[in-house]
Amino acid sequence: MAKRLSAEEVSTYRRKGFHFPMRVLSAEEARGYRDRLEAHERATGAPIAGNMRHKVHLLFTWANQLARHPAILDAVEDVIGPDILCWSTSFFIKEAHSPSFVSWHQDATYWGLSTDDVITAWVAFADAPVESGAMKFWPGSHLKNQLEHRDTFDKDNLLTRGQEIAVDVPEGEGVDVALKAGEMSLHHVLLAHGSGPNTTGDRRIGLAIRYIPPHVRQLKVRDSAMLVRGRDTHGNFDLEPAPKADLDEAALAAHRDAVDRNVKALYAGTGQTAFRA
Ligand code: NI
Repeated sequence: MAKRLSAEEVSTYRRKGFHFPMRVLSAEEARGYRDRLEAHERATGAPIAGNMRHKVHLLFTWANQLARHPAILDAVEDVIGPDILCWSTSFFIKEAHSPSFVSWHQDATYWGLSTDDVITAWVAFADAPVESGAMKFWPGSHLKNQLEHRDTFDKDNLLTRGQEIAVDVPEGEGVDVALKAGEMSLHHVLLAHGSGPNTTGDRRIGLAIRYIPPHVRQLKVRDSAMLVRGRDTHGNFDLEPAPKADLDEAALAAHRDAVDRNVKALYAGTGQTAFRA
């Protein structure tokens, strides 16, 4: 029984590899999330970066609450079923007038996950018009299976290795994923996507939340994830604790442990021991 997506929307997702836009927060609620992120950035004196940009649902109660938001989980459930683990959360932020970009890639490439029923909910904390460097999706590319990638480690590339697919995306085939603050897009783990620089005067802020059903296995390391709906009858992941208070000692320890495992999987073979940006 569908909770949020119509049967037609689910079949379009399976055919194209994505679905958007979906409103999950009001503009005011989205502003509230942005304010909490930016209060943290003011306290540290810098934009959130490095290890702190990832697995943020283990650090902040508000990010944990968002990863469990019924409006998001209902849509995710329609695609991957009622038992849901949150595997990771990562901020993708492009500052105003910044050259940061994301090369065309498939998320699955270095994740080490055993199956492709992995879905990303990308939630806009601020308006993300095309000019802000909104994502672009290559429809149907998730059906091409895993494509070859090369690592660039480009300094302006927001991806872990600056990885890019080794094939050219046909001119004009990319679909712009413009979103308003509080809207989200959903995309498949094998969907090729990328995004350009931000030419606007405001930050583009999105939180990418990755969800998996519990039968998925991590093939590279003993990994961890957080149960956010239903039951985990597989035990393939060590279950992560929700933070009780923002950045308290227990939250920081759980985050350190989870990020260590994440980095070991994502950067396997590179010698990298922390997220690079
Ligand atoms: Ni991606």
